[in-house]
Amino acid sequence: MPGPSPSGLFVYAKDLDRLAAFYAGVAGLSTVHREPGLVVLQSTDGLQLVLHAIPEAIARGIQIAEPPARRADVALKFFFSVPDLAAAGTLAAQLGGRWFDAERWTGPGFTVCNAMDPEGNVFQLRAPGASAPLIRPERDGEQAAIAELISAAFAGHPHSAGTEAAIVRELRAAGALTMSLVALNPEGRLTGHLAFSPVRVAGRDFGWFGLGPVAVAPALQRTGIGSALIATGLDALRRIGAAGCVLVGEPAYYRRFGFAPRHGLVYPGLPAELFMALPLSATTLPQGEVSYHPAFLSA
Ligand SMILES: CC(C)(COP(=O)(O)OP(=O)(O)OC[C@H]1O[C@@H](n2cnc3c(N)ncnc32)[C@H](O)[C@@H]1OP(=O)(O)O)[C@@H](O)C(=O)NCCC(=O)NCCS
Repeated sequence: MPGPSPSGLFVYAKDLDRLAAFYAGVAGLSTVHREPGLVVLQSTDGLQLVLHAIPEAIARGIQIAEPPARRADVALKFFFSVPDLAAAGTLAAQLGGRWFDAERWTGPGFTVCNAMDPEGNVFQLRAPGASAPLIRPERDGEQAAIAELISAAFAGHPHSAGTEAAIVRELRAAGALTMSLVALNPEGRLTGHLAFSPVRVAGRDFGWFGLGPVAVAPALQRTGIGSALIATGLDALRRIGAAGCVLVGEPAYYRRFGFAPRHGLVYPGLPAELFMALPLSATTLPQGEVSYHPAFLSA
């Protein structure tokens, strides 16, 4: 047994070896002790993770699903620091767990993301990273800066017609800009923008909204601002009782927020995989063709 460690935690494991390999790999912990029914892992800063086998008689009655079901009724959650969230998250998935890419938060100087081990225990990965952007609704006087930011974000974009800033301007003028959120850096400079507007399904209003355009200042793309805007925006939509949200975009990006193509909810003239929907409060999906506000066509 190694010398005393100042701090640590126990995790009870049905499959001890699998869990030990998982945490050693994902959190970069070293194995400092092993005996039947017990594996002790330790981080470089001295935190011990003691993995203890669940007694055989009890373990027999515990079923672990494949993929594991997320354990929700637990009041504790621990975190590990890793150099890179995406690398650790990918490894977590390879080792039988999962990472919840969209469940991210930022604190002063770090970003955390929920993940799950192969037995469904939820923990957090924490990596050094930018502070959370401030996100709030646009204010009077910011419209020109928003237009400039959108144009810069979409400049040279392969699928852009260069009309995104005009779409937002026309939505605003038509009173159809349901939500216009800005992201600001700690100095108050505009770093991102997200718009929502109402959509109709088969010509009727079902309380669904379209997400977009979303834009992040070119130099700051891929630093979490877009994700923060979208997560905040979807929360705000839920709070106003929206039935659901649709968008046109890259599946690889929007999947992480729960968006997916949904049977029967379609956008004409587009490859089906690029048109995605996320029910928010809706229990049944409206069926039919989705139409955006005319600003999307006239701008
Ligand atoms: C698309 C956009 C809003 C995303 O915001 P962002 O702040 O750059 O992205 P985030 O930092 O939140 O997310 C980064 C992650 O998304 C992925 N990602 C970003 N844009 C992507 C895209 N177009 N396709 C696939 N993945 C994408 C990154 O690879 C990264 O993945 P990782 O976390 O696994 O490393 C931003 O890049 C942007 O303004 N792009 C130009 C305009 C645009 O394309 N708008 C969307 C169409 S309406």
